[in-house]
Amino acid sequence: MNRMKKKQKSKAEQKTKKGQAQRKSGKNFRLWGGMILFIIIAAGAYFYYQPPDSLSATATPEQIALGEQLYSENCLSCHGAKAIGENPAQSRGGQKADGSYLAPALNGKGHAWHHPNEMLFSTVKDGSIAKDSPMRGFKDKLSDDDIVAVLHYVKSLWPDEIQVRHAMRP
Ligand code: HEC
Repeated sequence: MNRMKKKQKSKAEQKTKKGQAQRKSGKNFRLWGGMILFIIIAAGAYFYYQPPDSLSATATPEQIALGEQLYSENCLSCHGAKAIGENPAQSRGGQKADGSYLAPALNGKGHAWHHPNEMLFSTVKDGSIAKDSPMRGFKDKLSDDDIVAVLHYVKSLWPDEIQVRHAMRP
């Protein structure tokens, strides 16, 4: 409120007292510069987080159908039908005797839903942070929209309670 008044006042001053307005122009320049910078940063952040944003939106039936198809082509071989995982008894999948990783359940029974959207998205896009993991990135194969669709399908397998708890996470 106060800022608005100030702005209106300084506008009026610009009209009536030109000299004073010129002295103020340095201050106005900083104000506008700050506002423009803020808009640029906000827009940058908005576009950077675009895919996860669309992940927090309610999925359309088309997205879930596309996601299911992409899942069976790209993920099912490891994460199993309905994302049950290679080793459902272990929430993080666990390891085989030779030390290699087993694909964890993604169906809401494993650990995966504890991750925020951004992290689920980056795991699928860029692969696991563990360099020796079989979970490699799909960025050459799937578009951002495809990845969002796959994750919407995966999330559609989560029980309602898990979906609500995930959405409430910071
Ligand atoms: C070659 C086997 C393989 C394929 C194919 C694969 N994954 Fe994975 N994925 C894994 C393994 C193993 C892990 C666990 C090890 C790790 O995180 O490094 C994992 C981890 C994940 C995680 C993190 C889970 C968690 O609890 O942190 C997500 C999410 C995931 N995969 C999604 C997908 C999706 C979606 C696809 C298909 C687009 C896919 N994966 C394809 C093997 C695979």
